[in-house]
Amino acid sequence: MLQKTCRDFADNELKPIAAKLDREHLFPAEQIKKMGELGLMAIDVPEEYGGTGLDYLAYAIAMEEISRGCASAGVIMSVNNSLYLTPIMKFGNDKQKKEFGEPFTNGQKIGCFALSEPGNGSDAGAASTMAAKDGDSYILNGTKAWITNGYESEATIVFATTDKSKKHKGITAFLVNKPTKGLSLGKKEDKLGIRASSTCSLIFEDCRVPAENILGEPGFGFKIAMQTLDAGRIGIASQALGIAQASLDCGIEYSSKRLAFGKPIMKLQAIQHKLADMALRLDSARLLTWRAAWLKDNKLPFTKEAAMAKLAASEAATFCSHQCIQILGGMGYVADMPAERHYRDARITEIYEGTSEIQKLVIAGSLIKEYGLN
Ligand code: CAA
Repeated sequence: MLQKTCRDFADNELKPIAAKLDREHLFPAEQIKKMGELGLMAIDVPEEYGGTGLDYLAYAIAMEEISRGCASAGVIMSVNNSLYLTPIMKFGNDKQKKEFGEPFTNGQKIGCFALSEPGNGSDAGAASTMAAKDGDSYILNGTKAWITNGYESEATIVFATTDKSKKHKGITAFLVNKPTKGLSLGKKEDKLGIRASSTCSLIFEDCRVPAENILGEPGFGFKIAMQTLDAGRIGIASQALGIAQASLDCGIEYSSKRLAFGKPIMKLQAIQHKLADMALRLDSARLLTWRAAWLKDNKLPFTKEAAMAKLAASEAATFCSHQCIQILGGMGYVADMPAERHYRDARITEIYEGTSEIQKLVIAGSLIKEYGLN
């Protein structure tokens, strides 16, 4: 039922406008509000805090369908659900859940997650944004980069270090309202894909944050970030599945109508091989993604499986969108058809929430532990 609701919403409300949103860099504010009304902006948040009270498998299914219609709407939803609300619900106290969680569950407000910096993306433990204790507050100074939802969000989780010499053990997670004194926004990035979502830096200059806004324990921020990204990677894997599925849909529809050598090109073996390869990669990645979600829902370890899912699904999105353009030929290369947008949207899924290279490190690290060789 959830899958059908999301698919209908994507077909009726997102797909028809996705090209315009992309072309004009328009944030889909109305659509995000409607997604909030459908319960899609807080899928696994308990109902007592305004959420939908479903699980991560439901989230994965919903994310895929929304991203099939518009990958930008997908990432906006993913950041709010898994990078913002999931850690607040997991590590926050009741007051934080009410103040920073509940108002962000219905699409009226969205949140963001500020971990990366201009000087460190993959090496997340090397954060240099400083948090200096001052009475019952902390003063934050530094710049966070590549922040999805940076422009529209009304709160952020920000990771800052109280002592850089302690490396990852000096990092603390803070909840910060936006706008707030001492926090300004950098320029909106002009991106290859997912252009209807905003990406910008967050600049902290003597930004005072009450100590009661610490999420979890001081010095526990890196673990919060890592556990959050484990779950977030299931969201991005699902976004990638949506892009891959949209590419397959596009390739099938076009090849059923386009004639060459006296028949629809779908009847040609060269095209059939492409469709089969696309379906195979897509479905394999979907099974990996649903397995990771199922493990998380059943409170079993899922770090390695989430990394595998993200790696496989993002590569499937790149592969399927590439093949889709090849099937469409010249028509795939122009903006009259969605193929080129899928190709551009797919690319980021191999980069954000951990590059493909980082996923391989996570997978190998887990294997080494499993073999007792660490
Ligand atoms: N869960 C819990 N704890 C974890 C963990 C996990 N998945 N991974 C590591 N840790 C813990 C370790 O157990 C270790 O703890 P101790 O100090 O107690 O022993 C500690 O964290 C440090 O672990 P490592 O030594 O393995 O850490 P590292 O510095 O080598 O980094 C890394 C590991 C996997 C490379 C990590 O830095 C990483 O994931 N980097 C990628 C960052 C990333 O994904 N950024 C995305 C930004 S957000 C984004 O993209 C949002 C968006 O726009 C949509």
